[in-house]
Amino acid sequence: MTRLELPPLPYAKNALEPHISARTLDFHYDRHHRGYLDKLRALVEGTPDENRELLDLVREGRGAVFNNAAQVWNHTFYWNSMTPGGGGEPTGRIAEALGDAFGSHGSFRKEFVDRAVGLFGSGYVWLTFDPQSSRLGIDPLEDADNPLLAGRVPLLALDVWEHAYYLDHQNARGRYAEAFMDHLANWRFAEANLEAAS
Ligand code: FE2
Repeated sequence: MTRLELPPLPYAKNALEPHISARTLDFHYDRHHRGYLDKLRALVEGTPDENRELLDLVREGRGAVFNNAAQVWNHTFYWNSMTPGGGGEPTGRIAEALGDAFGSHGSFRKEFVDRAVGLFGSGYVWLTFDPQSSRLGIDPLEDADNPLLAGRVPLLALDVWEHAYYLDHQNARGRYAEAFMDHLANWRFAEANLEAAS
């Protein structure tokens, strides 16, 4: 098991262009993501948390340990939520589950983008699976918050902190969320997460 390490990006830095530039990934992966990991390592060094799994620190950490651990976990999940040539209308089991929850792909897409635009300040918009109802939902959560803490299973995440889109889209968060929906969303990753959870 890996503990406090930064997994490599699952694609080349320019692979998501023109929607997300290599320059954005230079900052976002090498500075922001790595920065959270460095802060976390410094926080836990010499403490009982030092040898714990990252996910345990997300589930049980408090204050700065939680914030930095969750940001490390959330970013890795976000990278995997995108793939070159992704997005558009999915097929297979994830499409059926989205259809049950939202009706059409158009309604789901609109709600996801609206929630991304409507989230005040920084955070992530999560596509989640609720094991209680066996239904999918959209959870816009602030800052480093994670749906796991509310008992829901993350399937896909869109980072809507400004550092994720400002260089490419300036303040147009909606355009960035639309690009995610239409060109980047990794439906196979979402489906694998759904299959593991249900
Ligand atoms: Fe980020």
